[in-house]
Amino acid sequence: MTENKYLYVETFGCQMNVNDSEKIATLLKDEGYLPTDDPERADLVILNTCSVRAKAEQKVYGHLGRFKGARSRKKGFLLGVGGCVAQQEGERLLQKVPWLDLVFGTHNLHLLPEIVRAAERGERRAEVGFIDNETRLDLFPETGGEGGVTRFVTVMQGCDNFCSYCIVPYVRGREISRRSSDIIDEVRKSVAEGVKEVTLLGQNVNSYGLKTEGELSFAGLIRRIAEVDGLERIRFTTSHPKDISPELIACFAEVPKLCGHIHLPAQSGSDAVLARMNRGYTRAGYLEKVEALRAARPGIQFTGDMIVGFPGETEEDFQATISLMEEVRYADLFSFIYSPRPETAAAGIRDTVSRKEKQSRLDRLQTLQQQMKRERNISFVGTRQLVLVEGVSKRGDQLYGRIDGNRIANFAADQSLIGTMAEVIITQDYQNSLLGEIVTDKGDAR
Ligand code: SAH
Ligand code: SF4
Ligand code: F3S
Repeated sequence: MTENKYLYVETFGCQMNVNDSEKIATLLKDEGYLPTDDPERADLVILNTCSVRAKAEQKVYGHLGRFKGARSRKKGFLLGVGGCVAQQEGERLLQKVPWLDLVFGTHNLHLLPEIVRAAERGERRAEVGFIDNETRLDLFPETGGEGGVTRFVTVMQGCDNFCSYCIVPYVRGREISRRSSDIIDEVRKSVAEGVKEVTLLGQNVNSYGLKTEGELSFAGLIRRIAEVDGLERIRFTTSHPKDISPELIACFAEVPKLCGHIHLPAQSGSDAVLARMNRGYTRAGYLEKVEALRAARPGIQFTGDMIVGFPGETEEDFQATISLMEEVRYADLFSFIYSPRPETAAAGIRDTVSRKEKQSRLDRLQTLQQQMKRERNISFVGTRQLVLVEGVSKRGDQLYGRIDGNRIANFAADQSLIGTMAEVIITQDYQNSLLGEIVTDKGDAR
């Protein structure tokens, strides 16, 4: 009998990478590698990387350094890099990092078993070619996953938007929608395994189907998924403001299973900056969609992303971002200092904002957001909320789940409630979660 070999995957970046990491683990199980969460024990370490900002990319080099001497400690040890930095750097990574054994791009997961076998023979390979759409349709990642009440289901991959600051279109390739029949099958299968909530996943989910003749629209897809018996909730991420259609807004009014939360990144509140970012909407257009969504689903929660210090951003532009935040009052906001990325259009624009000024804008924005988040959390105290109970909290003595608006709520209750919808009255707010008590009488939850 051969001895077991172990695989350790470290994931950086977004949910697409988390999904890909699960796929990597599944593929390599068939090659005899069992998953481990201990890098010291691993025979094969794979870093699944992100290159959305320079910092994310630099992190990878730090982690690669950690494994420099690993082969001398463990015979046959292999080190690989996948994901968006791999896609961006390809062969160059093998040249820069002599102790690296294999590199595979975002379109090459299916080649991984072959690449690993080559590495076991001592052959160093980098496979980063983009593959054609027909093949991709058959290779779409099923999340698989074991157990669990909630699951991500990939509906599209890639991005054609080319926001001028963003590397994603270059490292994930052209946008492609998965067949709706495959998506619905995966949702049905997941529900049969006990899943109660699906999050439809993609870089730009609301452009789903637009470029595929005869395919459902994103709104159509949501309505079909809502028909799956036994499924309680539908969420999606990420959506682009320019592709929020009236049909999608109508779903928030008419599809009760669709949760009242939307991640809708504005990136900036200034029209001049939005135009240079190539976002395809104006501040007024964004706010109109926010209002229409609020009308369709009163109480809907907004989260988003903002970039400060985009080349040429003036203090006045920045103030427009602050005032947009005040109008939307995001429940949560991810904010970043602009980071020039290779190949992108904005990388060629002269950077006029000093480092110090960028940092000051980020600090001011984040201080305001903390305050607004706190107010939002407090506003939940005293309300009744329906929570899909996901499991036992980290502390071990409570259960946790999400309210419709996506905040985590913890509460003491019997474990038999896991996987059910429970009614909870919120008693206290924390920075990143809410505390509640289970309601036993039958009132109306909001
Ligand atoms: N597809 C998603 C998210 C893409 S990356 C979307 O379109 O919303 C996640 C976030 O990273 C972006 O929303 C943006 O705010 C930020 N980001 C992307 N490129 C960046 C860059 N070059 N510098 C700083 N932040 C960036
Ligand atoms: Fe990047 Fe824009 Fe595509 Fe989002 S929509 S992934 S920010 S190019
Ligand atoms: Fe990063 Fe690639 Fe996702 S660049 S954000 S891991 S698509």
